[in-house]
Amino acid sequence: MKSLLNWVEIDRTALLANLRRFRILAGPAVILMPVVKSNAYGHGLAEVAPLLAAADRALWFGVNSLDEGLRLRALGIRQPVLLLGHVPLSRLAEAAAADLRLTVYNQESVRALLRIKTAGVVRLHLKLETGTNRQGVDLAGALKIAALVSRAPRLELEGCSTHFANIEDTTSPVYPRSQLARYQRIIDALRARGHDPKVNHVACTAAALVFPETRRQLVRLGIGLYGLWPSRETMLSLAERGRKFALAPALSWKTRIVQVKAVPAGSYVGYGCTYRTTRRTKLAVLPVGYNEGYDRKLSNTAHVLIRGKRAPIRGRVCMNLCMADVTDIPGVKLEDEVVLLGKQGKEHVSAEQLAAWIGTINYEVVTRINPLLPRIVV
Ligand SMILES: Cc1ncc(COP(=O)(O)O)c(C=O)c1O
Repeated sequence: MKSLLNWVEIDRTALLANLRRFRILAGPAVILMPVVKSNAYGHGLAEVAPLLAAADRALWFGVNSLDEGLRLRALGIRQPVLLLGHVPLSRLAEAAAADLRLTVYNQESVRALLRIKTAGVVRLHLKLETGTNRQGVDLAGALKIAALVSRAPRLELEGCSTHFANIEDTTSPVYPRSQLARYQRIIDALRARGHDPKVNHVACTAAALVFPETRRQLVRLGIGLYGLWPSRETMLSLAERGRKFALAPALSWKTRIVQVKAVPAGSYVGYGCTYRTTRRTKLAVLPVGYNEGYDRKLSNTAHVLIRGKRAPIRGRVCMNLCMADVTDIPGVKLEDEVVLLGKQGKEHVSAEQLAAWIGTINYEVVTRINPLLPRIVV
């Protein structure tokens, strides 16, 4: 690790412990589908997916794009892979050739699939619109697509899915339940016309944790797998129901000091001269900036951990650099390890803390860590 300047560590034990806890929660009959889109939520697709695949042969994998799906196949993942996002009509044959399951919600996609020659069956998951008004079709659209699929021997309607609008944002079950009811009405209507989707799914982490009835045949497990809570409301909802669930964050983000310097009182630090020292100050220059995913809103706001102590960020975060105040931390030297996210000694900077500083959610903090930074499984 000495040769690394800016890297992400993934705690294998934490990741696998989270997986095991969700396996126990969901029970053996429910398929768990780790959502490994966006570079496995910033944790590293190439590192995380093979590790999970080896740990549990029964897993499916969920990704957003065709290229992510092809990458999983290139990594040797043979388990079922479901693409959650749109595949360009001109590339559907590639998805079929790699045996990637498709989420469909456009008749155009199904008609394009009808025109391509595939060796095997292409399995489709129909996305139902139940009130999020993102991807998805209503009852009429679902019936049309299902009818098209049923006439094509090489297409199979394997499942129906939907996605909750506010399950992480509320402790109230009212809107999620209304979505679930709409979902069920469409499935019942499909069944009444002879369609038989067998792998149905609606649950993300928050739903799986709080509403057992949402687990259906498959759980799309994202943020919780990585040991992060979907929201405070999810924690509260569980607590209100008298239930406990432990999650272990798997990701730490680290860097090293590239220069230590003392500057006199009254010195400006960084672009825009937004910080001026009030005393003789020792600064540690860090090789991390907004390009690496360390948000510019952390300027003059965040702290990092050095020698187990908090070192405040001074001045603006630059593209590839930022400066931390180490005046009160004795012994700081060149190439000392710095924790941007994670634990050091008794201190901890959580993804939630970083999210609060920049006005976003933990999901965005971890997914925006530059995918080019090395991911090391420890
Ligand atoms: C369609 C879909 N299902 C499941 C998930 C996973 O959600 P979570 O990370 O909250 O578990 C996502 C995440 O964005 C998603 O878009």
